[in-house]
Amino acid sequence: MGIIFHEESQVFQLQTKNTTYAIGIVDRGYLGHIYYGKKIEGDHIKYLLRTEENPKTPCINQREKNSFLDQFPMEYPEHGMGDYRESALCVRSEEGHLASESLYKEHWIQKGKPALEGLPASFGTEEECETLCIICEDSVLHMKVKLYYTVFYHQDVITRNVIVENQGERPFYLEKVLSASLDMDDQNFQLLSLHGSWARERHIQVVPIGYGRQNIASFRGESSHQEHPFIALVTNGTSQDFGEVYSMNFVYSGNFKAQVEKDQFDMIRMTMGIHPDGFSWKLETGEHFIAPEVVLVYSDEGLGKMTRIYHDFYRNHLIRSPYKDKKRPILINNWEATYFDFDEKKLLSIAKEAKELGIEMLVMDDGWFGKRSSDDSSLGDWVVNEEKLKGGLQPLVEQVNALGLQFGIWFEPEMISPDSNLFREHPDWAIQIPNREITQSRAQYVLDLSRKEVVDYVYEAVASILRSANIAYVKWDMNRQLTTIGSVKLPADRQGELYHRYMLGVYELQERLITEFPELLLENCSGGGARFDAGMLYYSPQIWCSDDTDAVERLLIQEGTALVYPISCIGAHVSVCPNHTVGRNTLFETRGNVALCGTFGYELDITKLTKEEKDIVKQQVADYHNYNEIIRSGDYYRLVSYSENKYYDSFMIVNKEKTKALLFDIQVLARPNRRSRKLRLKGLDEQKTYRMNGQSYTGSTLMNAGILIPAEQGDFKSRVLLFEGE
Ligand code: GLA
Repeated sequence: MGIIFHEESQVFQLQTKNTTYAIGIVDRGYLGHIYYGKKIEGDHIKYLLRTEENPKTPCINQREKNSFLDQFPMEYPEHGMGDYRESALCVRSEEGHLASESLYKEHWIQKGKPALEGLPASFGTEEECETLCIICEDSVLHMKVKLYYTVFYHQDVITRNVIVENQGERPFYLEKVLSASLDMDDQNFQLLSLHGSWARERHIQVVPIGYGRQNIASFRGESSHQEHPFIALVTNGTSQDFGEVYSMNFVYSGNFKAQVEKDQFDMIRMTMGIHPDGFSWKLETGEHFIAPEVVLVYSDEGLGKMTRIYHDFYRNHLIRSPYKDKKRPILINNWEATYFDFDEKKLLSIAKEAKELGIEMLVMDDGWFGKRSSDDSSLGDWVVNEEKLKGGLQPLVEQVNALGLQFGIWFEPEMISPDSNLFREHPDWAIQIPNREITQSRAQYVLDLSRKEVVDYVYEAVASILRSANIAYVKWDMNRQLTTIGSVKLPADRQGELYHRYMLGVYELQERLITEFPELLLENCSGGGARFDAGMLYYSPQIWCSDDTDAVERLLIQEGTALVYPISCIGAHVSVCPNHTVGRNTLFETRGNVALCGTFGYELDITKLTKEEKDIVKQQVADYHNYNEIIRSGDYYRLVSYSENKYYDSFMIVNKEKTKALLFDIQVLARPNRRSRKLRLKGLDEQKTYRMNGQSYTGSTLMNAGILIPAEQGDFKSRVLLFEGE
């Protein structure tokens, strides 16, 4: 199907429906990256490696091996032998030397895709994908480097990951193991990335690429609010519909580095993997290290096509939850309604009113455990606070269920408050460097999840609460970044493993949780959207996108998030005004329309709404039920972006059959003396006729000529229009 090895030319050709990825073996076993891009046929492509040009290859021209290594397009570059560009692999021997040279030994090709032990990764059946494993060997260290490529033919996706094995008799240390590296000639590329901060996550940034190295990274122990494990190289002028895009997305939630380097020969090296800062992994004889997966998507039809490829791929080959294809219950979360100040009476009053208006689940947020009435204490003490919830959790859940609502609960399992019984009993369970003050953040420390006993404790703490009552949903939060990195248990030469072992602990916890509670709806969260990444999607079908629930701020946050991740996983709620983060007043309708483009729910004191607002809630609930199928499973098309024009934001979601389409249009700011705005739609069938508000239009009219959106008075106006085709 997708992978061919041309014996004679020694070329691996990986074919998806519309793309080709090619690797060639030269000389004594160097792997060269020949090509990635639009599909090509035939294997007469090895000339692209330029080995006929000086300095040729080491076998022919041993005296200039250094020049060869410094310009050959390496498939998986290593440190220390003469390639001075960014390396993907850097190994330190027991004697302290930093060098390796792994040459091709053998390969295998298999249908399907092996799972990555302990790590999140995409999956596919034997009919859906095929895997190539190229095995290289360093003869001095006796190290095997296995390069994995899985081709998802119909999805136009190639995934990569790497496993390094020690087959020698002495240990060595991995100082850097990136997951993917891509060498190519510069085509006047620009670098697209997602940047942000708390309450302002994943804004799109496009910058020119100059000579040298430019990287996007996190060493905060999580993928982070600030930078994001996704980069794309785009040709100049790339838009939603035109231009070439080479993108990489990391299926990992911890430290990462994504980099583009432009060298002296105008070659580009694009790399992605675990951040080497603070990383060092000891491999004893017989041990192996698995570097997480990178998802590669190439599009020759602009960003829109790339987006739709990622959305389909993640919906079908990464998210596993039984909810992935199901409408999620409309939830109401009490955080912005009450913060820490609630009891069972208050929660029940919210639940009662919510039920009246058609809401389906009550989520009890932070503050229900230990003696927590502010964020100063109790993380780790996962015992119900009976002062707040008289009679405990079960009676509350029963009453909520009796009202006809499901019940959900908040945890922050990875944390420990200095003021907690857990810390008083186990001060060594916090991540710390002996004799140094542990840096606090939100008055909390981070648990050392590299330790089995800590993982087991945390698991039991969460699971026993879930076993104690009928809990349908968990919001798994993580509200601080890692500092003062040290584990009391790890030996000195393994301290560099802590960041990654921590992530393995988090993944193990969530895997155990969804195994014991397969029907649980899990929503990840991290101070808003600091861990909104492909890694977490493997465990939870939705992730809280941002603590900023203002409808206007959300436009940019959700646009950047939806560039890569499906709308079905974007946690979005309607909250009160003035908005708690930015103090802005927006229309209730608009807050609903923006939240509809996500999981949809409420986060406000519903008992305090006016009669008019309650009527709007009923309408929004009805819209959710009418539209969610299209929103959850449809194709996303961006028409215009508020980030570019400052006034309007418009996008569409079209079902796969192209028989139903939703247009979301938000007039962020009104402009004086304007006529209506002509908007050309996308993604429809030109041959079909569509009805909207009693009028009929042909698909070709809507897409080529457009519709007229009236100019309205007032800011923050919005509309959702349904087009039904026949
Ligand atoms: C984080 C989350 C919020 C809320 C609080 C509770 O900030 O993002 O939604 O759960 O924690 O402390």
